[in-house]
Amino acid sequence: MITADRLHSVQEYYFSKKLREVRGLINQGKPIINMGIGSPDLPPSKEAVSTLQNVLEDNKAHQYQSYQGLPELREAMANFYASRFKVHVDANTELLPLMGSKEGIMHISLAFLNVGDAVLIPNPGYPTYSSVTNLIGAKPIMYDLTAENGWLPNIKALEKTDLSKVKLMWISYPNMPTGAKIDRAKMEELVAFAEAKDLLIVNDNPYSFVLNDNPTSILQIEGAKKVALELNSLSKTFNMAGWRVGMVLGSSEHITAVLKVKSNMDSGMFYGIQKGAITALESGGDWFEKLDEVYRKRRKLMFLLVDKLDATYDKDAAGMFIWAKLPEGSKSSEAFIDELLYSKDIFIAPGTIFGSNGEGYIRFSLCVEEEKIKEAIERFK
Ligand SMILES: Cc1ncc(COP(=O)(O)O)c(C=O)c1O
Repeated sequence: MITADRLHSVQEYYFSKKLREVRGLINQGKPIINMGIGSPDLPPSKEAVSTLQNVLEDNKAHQYQSYQGLPELREAMANFYASRFKVHVDANTELLPLMGSKEGIMHISLAFLNVGDAVLIPNPGYPTYSSVTNLIGAKPIMYDLTAENGWLPNIKALEKTDLSKVKLMWISYPNMPTGAKIDRAKMEELVAFAEAKDLLIVNDNPYSFVLNDNPTSILQIEGAKKVALELNSLSKTFNMAGWRVGMVLGSSEHITAVLKVKSNMDSGMFYGIQKGAITALESGGDWFEKLDEVYRKRRKLMFLLVDKLDATYDKDAAGMFIWAKLPEGSKSSEAFIDELLYSKDIFIAPGTIFGSNGEGYIRFSLCVEEEKIKEAIERFK
């Protein structure tokens, strides 16, 4: 059977291919240390896991669930936004639970884009923004994030771009992959830009609670709900990546449009996962402190490893990665990580998988135990 034309617009995800290669090396007996992907290795809270276990006997546990999630899950998500970001949304109309924020990228794109519409996408950025845009027949317009601009959108440069077909703009702060933070003034500028250009801006925000002392949400900006949506996730904040729980927040008009798509795609989230997610969302402040304590220790060690490669980095970046610049005169990022993989059995991500502006950069994940980081450092002695 001939596949659909749209499949020509995307490639198999880099990690899907590369991790096959890495697994092949592991099967050959190579002692690979994987510092490539941001899949939290720490456990979720005991309370969240117990909740999931304890509700399995409930009558409701195995039935289809509401397309909008349990009212108490929406309430817990709204309370989380109110307490952590001081952002207030109506739990019934301005918030929708998702099965991870990744699916939200597709739902939002399907809800707002027609074939031929254009989308502003950060370079470097999460690869799913452009692959989803391509899959639905819209046109990605990559915009530059550079070290000189603090990895923030250059609005003056954007205003000079032909924006006539642009309907949607993706941003992600704290930024992935660079760890850059955004301040209120820049968020205000972005909201004003979206308003002036009549576009919908989406902040993909899964890293706010990892090594970040000032969590920001685009919805903190006055008037943002009119032009902005925000995606968030329990994957990194609560070590629940495999549970697949996320959320989208914004105006009731925008959320209704997303629900129209989503309710035609899945039939609700497993009850136990929703109940466990509620428990996680209700975690006290010490949860976040403990999480940061682990990542801070790992990061300190990881800096020593990055130093061995003579790469440079921002010590104050947010999130669970170190985004490091290769020394002048280095090989390409992909050649560099391949050499590291084959000579030291260490896997890290090349910056280019996030876009052409990632050339010259490499990304280290902090989802690796301290012992493994020490072992990696030893391999340079
Ligand atoms: C920037 C960014 N957005 C979204 C996601 C997807 O997260 P989720 O597990 O909520 O689907 C990731 C995951 O790595 C990410 O890095």
